[in-house]
Amino acid sequence: RGKRAFIAGVADDNGYGWAIAKSLAAAGAEIIVGTWVPALNIFESSLRRGKFDESRVLPDGSLMEITKVYPMDAVFDSPEDVPEDVKTNKRYAGASKWTVQELVGSVKQDFGSIDILVHSLANGPEVSKPLLETSRNGYLAAISASSYSYVSLLKHFVPIMNPGGSSISLTYIASERIIPGYGGGMSSAKAALESDTRVLAFEAGRKHKIRVNTISAGPLRSRAAKAIGFIDMMIDYSLANAPLQKELSAEEVGNAAAFLASPLASAITGAVVYVDNGLNAMGVGV
Ligand code: NAI
Repeated sequence: RGKRAFIAGVADDNGYGWAIAKSLAAAGAEIIVGTWVPALNIFESSLRRGKFDESRVLPDGSLMEITKVYPMDAVFDSPEDVPEDVKTNKRYAGASKWTVQELVGSVKQDFGSIDILVHSLANGPEVSKPLLETSRNGYLAAISASSYSYVSLLKHFVPIMNPGGSSISLTYIASERIIPGYGGGMSSAKAALESDTRVLAFEAGRKHKIRVNTISAGPLRSRAAKAIGFIDMMIDYSLANAPLQKELSAEEVGNAAAFLASPLASAITGAVVYVDNGLNAMGVGV
């Protein structure tokens, strides 16, 4: 049987999650996705109405099928964690079972198991503030949505992941080098995500034979990136300074993820893999 992949963090056809889904689908995987609750209605209706059909085309001409779309909010682990104002918020009222624990319960009930887990989500409410001006709440919110969300997803999915399975997240070089503008504790959140990749690779590898890697991706004009506000500058900077002077396509990150998820990468775990036209290797701009 083909492999089954759960991709968390797909809400349109512009981001890395969508591109990873496509590369995995092209390689023969069954695709199920988790979509942030407030974005769910628009995503599902756009899918139904054919708005993404052009972007669903795979290399063989067929269209990517998404077997099921689950609502999720990765900052809540179980119903007890959900505060009253979120419960009663009308953007959440139409959906149910979207905490991590309930989501994984539903996937288990519907499919039994998965082989590949992809975490392609991040959120930092104060991302546009310098770290020196970031509040405690803003910092913790960035870590909760962008780092612990991965620990929680993996922790809950591991029991239903087949041995030999693989897990991938997306990180950014602001974790290890100064990228002014990537604020609000988002640089800290990515540093945590990369460190956790190593520790989780050890724990999930020893206990369940699951590999854990993260892709440090170059700049892409996704919805999340546009919200940060400096994405065009980062793309121009990369074009001017990276060893490979071409715009990075989401598909290139998708293909690297498909490789990491495949048996071709069977000895790769605990790694930060750069998919950034080589920009990380530069010491100075040229
Ligand atoms: P995107 O907007 O396509 O994906 C982010 C997703 O996170 C959205 O679908 C959003 O609905 C979801 N999300 C936010 N909070 C959530 C929550 N609490 N629960 C569930 N879902 C939630 O944007 P992009 O850029 O493709 O982001 C995917 C990953 O790639 C992120 O981890 C990001 O940090 C990373 N990345 C992006 C780069 C870029 O230049 N776009 C560069 C390097 C890494």
